[in-house]
Amino acid sequence: MKARDESTRSWRSPLAPWRLRIQTARFFITGSSDGLGLATAKHLIAQGHQVVLHARNADRTKDATAACPGCDAVLVADLTSIDETKQLAAQADRHGPYDAVLHNAGLFVGFETVPGKSGLPSLFIVNTLTPYMLTCLWLAQRGWCVCARRWPDVQCYTAAPGWVPTKMGRESAPGRLEDAVDTFAMVALGEGPSKGRSGGYFEYSKEQQPIAVAEDVALQDRLLAELSRISGVPVREEQ
Ligand SMILES: NC(=O)c1ccc[n+]([C@@H]2O[C@H](COP(=O)([O-])OP(=O)(O)OC[C@H]3O[C@@H](n4cnc5c(N)ncnc54)[C@H](OP(=O)(O)O)[C@@H]3O)[C@@H](O)[C@H]2O)c1
Repeated sequence: MKARDESTRSWRSPLAPWRLRIQTARFFITGSSDGLGLATAKHLIAQGHQVVLHARNADRTKDATAACPGCDAVLVADLTSIDETKQLAAQADRHGPYDAVLHNAGLFVGFETVPGKSGLPSLFIVNTLTPYMLTCLWLAQRGWCVCARRWPDVQCYTAAPGWVPTKMGRESAPGRLEDAVDTFAMVALGEGPSKGRSGGYFEYSKEQQPIAVAEDVALQDRLLAELSRISGVPVREEQ
């Protein structure tokens, strides 16, 4: 792992922010040109943290830079492309290390049948294949990952925002954007009920019960095997 720059950081361990008081942390947020990713980035930057953003193309990079001038960098990749996502992993690694990565980019129903640049359904590739690929590519390079069951030394959470007003949620959404951002920031910083532990599903800043199928270990393993086969990125076994 890279040593931290002591002029800007107050602690050294890149793997254990939950064990130490964080004064300045560094984050990478996918899908942060808009919506919750952008709002969470602004929130973390306002608290004094460093954030690297991600946008799908050059135009959205300009939008993200204008909306969040305090960010450290904006990295570019259309996540419907397996090749661009692999390049994003390498780009993001050059801008790291990070204390947490927020796999925020996502699409909603309607995109199941819309093919992306790699020909795969956009909903599947952005929501499921991309987080898998980024996680395993970084693990291969840096020895860290965000998969709670296989790599117990690394914290991994699922955070749900509720139904909130973004491009995806639409203006009429009943929830508050601020509450969703609080949940995302809480798990990113390893604070509140996520403090000192790994795994767990959080919404409204509280731990919630995920649907039963999410805890089916055999199904998890089958999914990982399929994601590995489709992407060509191997699953990294426990160290
Ligand atoms: N809002 C809700 O009520 C709600 C509810 C449940 C879950 N969520 C989840 O919360 C997360 C954030 O959602 P949001 O409401 O902030 O949605 P959003 O406003 O639509 O923002 C989604 C972000 O992901 C990016 N993105 C989507 N496809 C991409 C691709 N192929 N390549 C690169 N970037 C891509 C978008 O880029 P562009 O701006 O260029 O499109 C945007 O920055 C998602 O994972 C979503 O599933 C949201």
